Amino acid sequence: MSIKSEQIEISSSDFGKMKDYVYEQLVASTVGDVGGNRMRWYPWHSAEYRFTHILNVISLSTKIAQNEGANIDQVRVSALFHDIAKFSSTQKDHAKDGADLTSAYLRENFNFPDSFLENIHKIISNHVHDGSISHLSLEERCLIEADMIDKIGANGSTLLLLRMGYDSHPPAHIMETLQKVIKRGKETLPYISTDTGYSLAYQRIQRATWLKEWVEDETPGVSELPRN
Ligand SMILES: [Fe+2]
Repeated sequence: MSIKSEQIEISSSDFGKMKDYVYEQLVASTVGDVGGNRMRWYPWHSAEYRFTHILNVISLSTKIAQNEGANIDQVRVSALFHDIAKFSSTQKDHAKDGADLTSAYLRENFNFPDSFLENIHKIISNHVHDGSISHLSLEERCLIEADMIDKIGANGSTLLLLRMGYDSHPPAHIMETLQKVIKRGKETLPYISTDTGYSLAYQRIQRATWLKEWVEDETPGVSELPRN
């Protein structure tokens, strides 16, 4: 099922304006947050990191939406705003708070029909979801799947290695860290409902597997290192 709504024309300058707003909001909500609150273990707990994730999710979700026949503007606008309240709200409430913030901003600055705004609100509100997503609309699934896929693959591996360094883990932990990403990828697959999302996730698991194999091949002595 797709969320029906009239086709909206969003110009690249309007989308650029929205992007600027999201970035400014992320910067504003991290200023003074020296400790990095609940995500302090991420050294990249920053507006830049979060914004990069958002750009990745826009790209992935748009790809899924195009291939699956979803409403592309609903998906890409929701992807752009989905984590806008990530720092200003709690993890539990960031989806709903972000949806409210987005509605207020879009209403104030653009002239979109109510149906479009309602759909964006719904997609963002539901992007944090436990369990099966098969009952959700296609547009909601495009965002949720893209959000999950960005955490696996070569990018997910790189981020987890950075975290490992931040947590002062020794080099002996590299292989199990890379294995964690592969495991996370495999655990993600059953929650992916679209063919496009599945093949993107599958490709990323493959990349994470290759990365681990390549590192293993290039560091034959790593298993002999002290493990503390
Ligand atoms: Fe996200």
